[in-house]
Amino acid sequence: MEYLYESVQRSYEDYASGRVLYNAHGTTSFPVRLASEIAQRCFHILEQKGAGGPYSLYDPCCGGAYLLTVLGLMHGQRFSSVIGSDVNPEVLAIANKNLSLLTHQGLDHRIGQLQELFERYHKPSHQEALQSAARLKVLLDRSRLEDASCYPADITDSQSQAALNRPAGIHMVITDLPYGDIVSWHGGSGEPVREFFEQIHPMLDPGHSVVAVIADKGQKLRHDRFKRLQQFKAGKRRWPSWNRYDAGEVSIPSLHRR
Ligand SMILES: C[S@@+](CC[C@H](N)C(=O)[O-])C[C@H]1O[C@@H](n2cnc3c(N)ncnc32)[C@H](O)[C@@H]1O
Repeated sequence: MEYLYESVQRSYEDYASGRVLYNAHGTTSFPVRLASEIAQRCFHILEQKGAGGPYSLYDPCCGGAYLLTVLGLMHGQRFSSVIGSDVNPEVLAIANKNLSLLTHQGLDHRIGQLQELFERYHKPSHQEALQSAARLKVLLDRSRLEDASCYPADITDSQSQAALNRPAGIHMVITDLPYGDIVSWHGGSGEPVREFFEQIHPMLDPGHSVVAVIADKGQKLRHDRFKRLQQFKAGKRRWPSWNRYDAGEVSIPSLHRR
């Protein structure tokens, strides 16, 4: 694939999982350069739709919120909120810790932890992590983010309590769908991808939203309420971005009393 925005290969080590950002068994880390490229393509699409931001970003399969946290750090000046949800409550503990890094309090806490580790073990890796954290702090100073949070939810389930309290007016969904064994689809739906599209549709800002879905090629990414805008392949992943399809929106007729 051609990188239009992250066109110059540079070091993304400040965002490496386990360095300043937290990692844990069962969570994955998304390629940083690709994440930033996708986000910037989405910004461009939203700008073309007349939405200047800052935007709300939602990942309904957020795992440990690595993708969300990286984007919140790199592009915090373009986002007002970063929201994640996941069916697995265990990964949300890590998601919460990662999302806390998008606040000064959370990042300072992490710097304190790294300092303690460095003083105790004198490892170069802890010193490097401290240097990365200092650079991330500079990024955070420019951030416009007001909310970074996550909650448990099965995005394929329309009946759950979480479904009733879902966020609305979302501008951007960027999500890395479950694939493989460790992170396969959970929940009872026989058609999880179709349900996923069904469930996110009402959450999106009708005129100013874009959805970028990263998936392996086994998953059929099609829904009549969404119009495909672009599709790319990167390694084994492909990631189309989508418009909420206006023609497919629910219409509310005006009624007369007879
Ligand atoms: C590929 S991982 C996402 C990783 C994430 N982007 C990150 O940066 O850490 C897919 C996630 O989808 C979650 N998942 C599986 N089925 C789900 C469902 N029905 N609703 C919500 N999340 C689900 C898994 O628990 C897993 O954390």
